[in-house]
Amino acid sequence: MKKIIFIAAVLFSISFFVSESKAQSKDKKILVTYFTLPETDGVDASSGASRVVVNDKLYGATEYVANEISELTGGDLFQIKTENTYPGTHKALIDYAKKEAESKTYPVITSKIKNFQDYDVVFVGYPNWWYDMPMVIYSLFKDYDFSGKTIIPFCTHGGSGFSQSVETIAGLEKNAKVISIPAISRSRVTSSRSALEKWLKEQGLAK
Ligand SMILES: Cc1cc2nc3c(=O)[nH]c(=O)nc-3n(C[C@H](O)[C@H](O)[C@H](O)COP(=O)(O)O)c2cc1C
Repeated sequence: MKKIIFIAAVLFSISFFVSESKAQSKDKKILVTYFTLPETDGVDASSGASRVVVNDKLYGATEYVANEISELTGGDLFQIKTENTYPGTHKALIDYAKKEAESKTYPVITSKIKNFQDYDVVFVGYPNWWYDMPMVIYSLFKDYDFSGKTIIPFCTHGGSGFSQSVETIAGLEKNAKVISIPAISRSRVTSSRSALEKWLKEQGLAK
């Protein structure tokens, strides 16, 4: 009899612990921020250009991934928009972004995140631009206080992965915890969902 009571007590405490740890991850408030710039002279991501067309809807590569993360986590979605207008065509955009990075120009973010202080986990998505994150992501880290939060950078790219941008973010945000999802090639964004889901489940962040 004593043995049965003992086993029941052990099983009860295990199930209590499991439900407790799940509840903790469910209680986290999640934000999915992203910057994207689909090029107007591209075709689609499977052909290697910076835009994705699914069911007649046009997405930037990073925007597509941001939507998936938001759906899988239940996190609020927030698109970073700038005061300046970026050229939509590839060559002009490449030149513009290079000048912006070289001159360390911080673009002004016009969209505003409501109640930023309430979020525990902030996904920050961007395309790799010139082996770095776009300058507007530097603006984001200047504009908001990320202390105490978990930052999860995610990136789409044409072959360079994150470059050194995760380390850069960790250097900028010393009072935050920085972990990153594996970078996603622009040619794989539409087939990224199951890998994303697996990773989010492992982190206890899938809804
Ligand atoms: C200005 C610019 C610079 C880029 N530089 C790089 C780079 O250094 N390395 C890389 O792998 N991809 C680079 N790319 C490709 C983009 O990272 C890739 O197309 C990305 O998926 C675009 O995402 P978006 O559609 O959300 O803007 C660059 C693209 C642009 C427009």
